[in-house]
Amino acid sequence: MDQDQLKRLVAEAARDEVLRLPDGQLLGIGTGSTANWFIDLLAPHKNHFSGVVSSSMASTNLLLKYGFTVIDANKVISLPVYVDGADEIDPNGHMIKGGGGALTREKIIASLAKQFVCICDSSKQVLELGAFPLPIEVVPLAEASVARMMEKFGGTAKLRLKNNKLPKQEKLSEPFVTDNSGWILDVSGLHIHDPVKLENEINQIPGIITVGIFAQRKADVLLVGGSSGVTRLTF
Ligand code: A5P
Repeated sequence: MDQDQLKRLVAEAARDEVLRLPDGQLLGIGTGSTANWFIDLLAPHKNHFSGVVSSSMASTNLLLKYGFTVIDANKVISLPVYVDGADEIDPNGHMIKGGGGALTREKIIASLAKQFVCICDSSKQVLELGAFPLPIEVVPLAEASVARMMEKFGGTAKLRLKNNKLPKQEKLSEPFVTDNSGWILDVSGLHIHDPVKLENEINQIPGIITVGIFAQRKADVLLVGGSSGVTRLTF
């Protein structure tokens, strides 16, 4: 099975898992290619839920296209479950997220959820976080100062650029802009031995909007797709 088929497989498992919730509940929904599979597969069952809370404009657009009732996170006190992908997940359920740029809203929605169900293929499982460059969303004014701070942590920060196919060369050097008007630094070279500590330390840096370490609010459940099918792990 290729990676996309594995993503579909775990999305099916997540759909089956959330359909075991009683009717009429709210559901938190993440962002990315695995989350997109989940949305596609959940669409025929949308009326099982009173509404969904989305972690990005991209997911919201897809959910609205399918006719889901999308609820503003400000109107929600708590969610039974949040389902989302990850860029890396370690054996404790700590994750790196933000490869798709939606880390801030993902962290907010995850913080509302009683249970975080992470869905991914087995290529995302690592013993230690950090091979995937750590996304950090910053206020644009703080790009350079945060990048310098990252050097002190042993990392090298690179400003994420728009991945567009526009012909003009200068357009290619425009920063990627998040749903919150932030920019993203992708920091490589970090050895994340203690994800909770590093998440805390990076959170103290002025100009940081969100660091893509999800350790204080980690995954509770992992549905991971591999050659022998879907495995369910709890942390
Ligand atoms: C979005 O910002 C990310 O956190 C995604 O959840 C993560 O990058 C996983 O994406 P894929 O499911 O596309 O691999």
